[in-house]
Amino acid sequence: MTKPELSAGLADIVVGETNICFVDPNGTLLYRGFSADELSERLSFEEIAHLLLIGHLPEKEELKKFSEAIKKERNVPDELLNVIKLFPKDAHPMDILRTSVSYLGMLDKDAGDKSREANLKKAVKLLAKLPTIMTAAHRISHGERPVEPDPSLNHSQNLLYMLFGKKPADIEAEAVNASLILYAEHEFNASTFAARVTASTLSDMYAAVTSGIGTLKGPLHGGANEAAMYMMKEIGEPHKAESYIMEKLAKKEKIMGFGHRVYKSVDSRAEVMRSVARKLSENFGETKWYKIEEKLVEVMKREKNIFPNLDLPCAIVYYMLNIPIPLYTPIFVCSRVSGWAAHVMEQLDNNKLIRPSSIYTGNPKRNLPPEAI
Ligand code: COA
Repeated sequence: MTKPELSAGLADIVVGETNICFVDPNGTLLYRGFSADELSERLSFEEIAHLLLIGHLPEKEELKKFSEAIKKERNVPDELLNVIKLFPKDAHPMDILRTSVSYLGMLDKDAGDKSREANLKKAVKLLAKLPTIMTAAHRISHGERPVEPDPSLNHSQNLLYMLFGKKPADIEAEAVNASLILYAEHEFNASTFAARVTASTLSDMYAAVTSGIGTLKGPLHGGANEAAMYMMKEIGEPHKAESYIMEKLAKKEKIMGFGHRVYKSVDSRAEVMRSVARKLSENFGETKWYKIEEKLVEVMKREKNIFPNLDLPCAIVYYMLNIPIPLYTPIFVCSRVSGWAAHVMEQLDNNKLIRPSSIYTGNPKRNLPPEAI
């Protein structure tokens, strides 16, 4: 028998087809054919969620209907709020979201309905409720009352409003909107793949999104935005950035917010977000974090020819907006849920159980020792 070929981490292995998103190794990212960078500069997150979930950019009336549907679903059931109050005060917000989505699945009578129509409704529910759950849980764990969603605000404005209890400035909501759009979808990344694997067993949308959240949490994936900010805080000053990186690289440690499995020379999303970070820095008169980031980018390019990914500038943007660091990856969830749900529906449209193989490296067949019989 010929030995099967192994690709560690499934690198370069094609496991499916998708018409949702294209990640070009040279840096371009397309959502259903449109440049994600351009979308993030011109449109709203709601329009992009519509594009991903329904397949086309909404006309004016469609957008109105879709936005209203999201607004209607923003409230979190009391049953879930009561459960959230019982969570440990120091629980990580990603764990809170993971458990909350799982719980929402138990409350939804249609959880097991796998029709596209029912799944679309679940996607809208999750999209709408995740920011409310995230901000309510955060406020509860800090001894504050949750802030009710405000129907006069769009998705990004409302997220910031529920977190801080005051309406955000346009520049703040626009920065969050751009980050949500750029985080929304990324083809067969680890968490989307996890969601597709779960869906492929004919489990339900809530189970698939729960898998996605658990997978996104790790610092090699979505957790990198939090890890990158902790790193920049540890560095503290722009003039300390170079020696910090050199020490880490000498110890063969990874620098969070750099590198990518698919992109080879640039992550264009990061460049868009770096300009948002610069704009905010200049607007707020606080350029320290941007300067640290610039130095990190320069040294990583020189030493390893490795480029920043989206998580690095997003971390600065969120920090400039005073968003608590443990909420950075949960905000990523609030966005990526649109991509996960689109992939779950696509998987189910043409389902085949996802079940790869492995190369066995254990003992050959052997007999039980006599004393064990
Ligand atoms: N810092 C330092 N070195 C890095 C690096 C980083 N962030 N990313 C990759 N490298 C180096 C590795 O050390 C390795 O070097 P070597 O061949 O000399 O051993 C080489 O580049 C390949 O890295 P590897 O981890 O095997 O590539 P991958 O495709 O499996 O990894 C990531 C992709 C994203 C996991 C990796 O770049 C990483 O860990 N980045 C930091 C976490 C992060 O920002 N994640 C968010 C991704 S969007």
